[in-house]
Amino acid sequence: MGLALDIDIITIFPGMLTGYLGESMMKRASEAGLVRFSYIDLRDFTTDVHRTTDDRPYGGGPGMIMKPEPIFKAVESVRREGSRIILMTPQGAPFRQQTAVALAAETHLVFICGHYEGVDERVREFLVTDEISIGDYVLTNGALASAVVIDAVVRLLPGVLGAGEEATEQESFRRPLLEFPQYTRPADYNGMQVPEILLSGNHPAIARWREEQSMKRTSERRPDMLAP
Ligand code: ADE
Repeated sequence: MGLALDIDIITIFPGMLTGYLGESMMKRASEAGLVRFSYIDLRDFTTDVHRTTDDRPYGGGPGMIMKPEPIFKAVESVRREGSRIILMTPQGAPFRQQTAVALAAETHLVFICGHYEGVDERVREFLVTDEISIGDYVLTNGALASAVVIDAVVRLLPGVLGAGEEATEQESFRRPLLEFPQYTRPADYNGMQVPEILLSGNHPAIARWREEQSMKRTSERRPDMLAP
């Protein structure tokens, strides 16, 4: 399996990404050549001695706004035909498993990690192809949010999960139900028992039990997933 996906991350805090993406499955995926991560320091695209990436908002008000020029230049330094240019922002479309599936089918993703109060609107209007939010809360910047999206996308690439790949197929969100409860040994841990049915060896009955548990859990915890 060759390189499936090329990911460029534009940030003023590359260390926030190298930490997460340099461990565990993400590290293995890149070492195996299934994905390539590149970190682009936005400050390398500034022109002043202070390497300024933000400025005060036109019209006044609190907070600072990320300047357009360094972001445009950074993106233009890596962009090619078909690149998805993704801005991480709480104003974006909610991130879902189906978004991860769609992004895993691409060849080049460029993540722009916002910081401060916001990003000059021209970046949104004329540069980005997608705006993504990881949830209805506000982080101090988009680096962590992009790591969340990258993790969910990269684990879907062929070969990343290896032998357990089949497991993804059964997982939550492929089917619109939550996962059933899972157990491993011991069958009795300090009096806490594994459900009898799972020890029965009756596979059709186990499959039915799991289906019921998934349905029960979904209706209790996420009735919104069952709503029409
Ligand atoms: N940047 C700050 N908060 C964010 C969020 N919830 N999703 C994506 N990017 C963000």
